Amino acid sequence: MPPDDPSLSSFRRLLVERRSVDLSHYSDAFLARRVAVRQHATGQHSLESYSRFILTEPGEINLLLDALSVNVTEFFRDEVLSPRGLSGVMDFLAGRNPKRPITIWSAGCASGPEPYTLAILFDLRFGAARPPRDIIVYATDINESRLREAREGCYAARSLAAVPPAVLQSHFDPPGPDGRRRVKERIRKMVHFFRHDLATLPPYSGLDLVLCRNVTIYFTSEAKANLVKGFHRCLSERGLMILGGSELLLEMSLFSPFDAARKIYQKKAVGGAVQ
Ligand SMILES: C[S@@+](CC[C@H](N)C(=O)[O-])C[C@H]1O[C@@H](n2cnc3c(N)ncnc32)[C@H](O)[C@@H]1O
Repeated sequence: MPPDDPSLSSFRRLLVERRSVDLSHYSDAFLARRVAVRQHATGQHSLESYSRFILTEPGEINLLLDALSVNVTEFFRDEVLSPRGLSGVMDFLAGRNPKRPITIWSAGCASGPEPYTLAILFDLRFGAARPPRDIIVYATDINESRLREAREGCYAARSLAAVPPAVLQSHFDPPGPDGRRRVKERIRKMVHFFRHDLATLPPYSGLDLVLCRNVTIYFTSEAKANLVKGFHRCLSERGLMILGGSELLLEMSLFSPFDAARKIYQKKAVGGAVQ
């Protein structure tokens, strides 16, 4: 299927109209390749027959979304998601109104390691704070299958390889017979998972921190730019945004660098001045 095949546009329209799944932010070439993979895997001889198949076969939409996403994720994924990497962010948030909860959004959370890592790191820093600080982590993804795993909160050793041993002891249940460990209930209760498509408007406002990492690699430039505008809108005054290696801040009018090396940015008021 060539990328500019008109049937690809019809396929996009069908999914948005009949299944509320918006594929417009994926580039044509990438979408064509991944749809062709699912078309062949399901034994469909044309995009038209695959279009009928996806509407009648209940699980297929999630399998297509799986094929469209790179789901690789793990706890304490890199230096940014560590006590040292987040110390500047935490110092800044510690100085904000202590009566308000600290609110965080992990956008494109996959099966949950990113939001749980945040909940653990904020618990390590603020868990014993006096007066206590409430921490609320919202975590969203487009893929319901990944969200089911995330809510379960139970992980194999390969997702946990970078977790410091002391944190494994303090923030996870002991391993089960299959070697998997579950995030402790107290930490699971800090994280709230919802389905949300990043092609649509953000469902939050007044947030302190938003993370979007390793999610938008196949988004069009326009979709990436819209996303950053949406993040600006959902943050509170001087709120922070953390991007990943595959995310691009294409124009700096909405954010100023907070810790540029770690791709941490701070919301500016539109017009230039920091709000
Ligand atoms: C590689 S994982 C990144 C997980 C986590 N942010 C991290 O860095 O470890 C990418 C996730 O983005 C999600 N995703 C892709 N397109 C999305 C969209 N339009 N809306 C919401 N989530 C999306 C995928 O379902 C996948 O779970």
